Amino acid sequence: MSTRAIHKADAPDAIGHYLRDYDEARRTFDWTAARHALTGRTDPVLNIAAEVLDRPIAQGRGTQRAARFIDRHWNRIDLTYADLQRGARRFANVLRRLEVERGAVVATLLGRVPELFTVALGTLAAGNVLSALFSAFGPEPLKTRLQLGHVRVLVTTEALYRRKVAGIREFLPQLRHVLIVREAPPRELPPGTLDLAALLRMAAETFETVATGDADVALLHFTSGTTGKPKGVTLPHAAVIAQHATSRLVLDLHPGETYWCTADPGWVTGIAYGLIGPLACGASLIVDREEFEPERWYRILAEERVEVWYTAPTAIRMLMKAGTALARTRQFPALRHLASVGEPLNAEAVTWGVDAFGLPFHDTWWQTETGSIMIANFAACEVLPGSMGRAIPGIEARVVRHAADGTLEPIESADEVGEIALRPAWPSMFTSYLENPERYAAAFVDGWYLAGDLARRDANGYFWFIGRADDVIKSAGHLISPFELESALMTHPAVAQVAVIGLPDPIAGQAVKAFVELRSGVVATEDLRSQILGHARRLLGAAVAPREIAFSDALPRTRSGKIMRRLLRARELGLPEGDLSTLEGKE
Ligand code: WT7
Repeated sequence: MSTRAIHKADAPDAIGHYLRDYDEARRTFDWTAARHALTGRTDPVLNIAAEVLDRPIAQGRGTQRAARFIDRHWNRIDLTYADLQRGARRFANVLRRLEVERGAVVATLLGRVPELFTVALGTLAAGNVLSALFSAFGPEPLKTRLQLGHVRVLVTTEALYRRKVAGIREFLPQLRHVLIVREAPPRELPPGTLDLAALLRMAAETFETVATGDADVALLHFTSGTTGKPKGVTLPHAAVIAQHATSRLVLDLHPGETYWCTADPGWVTGIAYGLIGPLACGASLIVDREEFEPERWYRILAEERVEVWYTAPTAIRMLMKAGTALARTRQFPALRHLASVGEPLNAEAVTWGVDAFGLPFHDTWWQTETGSIMIANFAACEVLPGSMGRAIPGIEARVVRHAADGTLEPIESADEVGEIALRPAWPSMFTSYLENPERYAAAFVDGWYLAGDLARRDANGYFWFIGRADDVIKSAGHLISPFELESALMTHPAVAQVAVIGLPDPIAGQAVKAFVELRSGVVATEDLRSQILGHARRLLGAAVAPREIAFSDALPRTRSGKIMRRLLRARELGLPEGDLSTLEGKE
């Protein structure tokens, strides 16, 4: 691993970085000042929609482009801050008209379309809770999430509704309204759904943003644990304080700048840094409606004159694979800051940024639960390739060890591996796991929030990622619960037992492999293998289904019958079976 620092002393500083001196920023930062920098006030009345629309517009940003959506044919749809506000207000009135009470959950199941943004912000303005679901999920993960979230209103397209929701609707008694974003010329809508555009047309454009408080739940994101159902993570309206502060301190995003976050809004990054944080900064967002494609991405970076770019290691590795020569076919004179999140960013990827763009990628670390960036490399500071960087101002982050008596000890010596722990509370800290108060309580030990990641911290306070402390899989940036996949695979009639693990993959970080024990008498054939794979894809969606299925005669189990995923993994990788700490990692 290369630890050669990338010094940036000579970097042009015309822009005036928000964070110039790390130590000083740590000394002087406080969350009350951060709140004031955002809201101009210190009281706890706060609504995300007010901070990202009403306030910037009051400051004269109404006619500025807020977002540009680019489709497959390079058609561009531009929305100003005022357009977004009008759309959001209309949608808030639609919710009133449908008698959706304050606090009820509104979910979206949409591609990256303009309606997603107006619905999201209208939901927040109305004091409802937004849950943006990943549109590549299959019916099974959708059912679990819509049920757990007690989702009252779902906004989706006709195609997604027919493919994924119609078949599970009978299991969703709480789902009162389904609103359809029409893509094709009007034809009859599926029964039990309403036309969103028609409702918006009838709705008024005036709406007083609900005066929610700091602690009121604004966002519901789903994330994966090792066991049981997905975890419904709730974030409060106050999250915008931290998302705004870090968009400035870490993404170094200035008002009016062109910014591209490649994350889908179905994941926390796509909402926190694809919508809320950057709009609160007065930025202009680029939204690509299409999927990853190297030439397309270079064209967007160049033609749209993207200045700040927040992306993910899997995408960077795919660009690397496509070759530096391809990057060189374009010029990126506007580009000035690159950041990455979601999975280990290898040192090679950091320095490849310098080859391809003349700029290093700045790794950032956080989680759905933290609601905003917690550890980062900063634009004005040296980058240690392979390191996630240092705790952001306002956050105390350490690595800790679990002492024999159940308490936690912060590790004082440099470079010793422990679990990442953060000192509560910060404004975007999650407020619950839905219907799982025990799990929530268990995340806080001895005055620390435990992240479930292993890392070491060097003498200068830089964190180096080691691996997950649990069995959760990270594939192409998506956090995947082995349990959720195993449960889906178990519904195939030929399957008796199944274990799902993540194996190292040069591009995706990890690839999902399922080990299947067949029912007695069932013969393992290639045909059956593809049947089970097809079954998994139908239920789960191709994005989260296992890539590979292996038949196994006897899966390793503990005496109590629990399948030992770690042992399976060690065997697959030819690692010592007892050594758990080396099972994951970025080397
Ligand atoms: C998990 C959280 C953070 C927003 C998107 C993911 C892993 C995150 C890094 C990084 C190595 C990382 C951790 C973490 N992770 N950032 N820079 N280096 N690993 O949110 O889906 O809740 O996943 O992603 O394991 O716990 P999430």
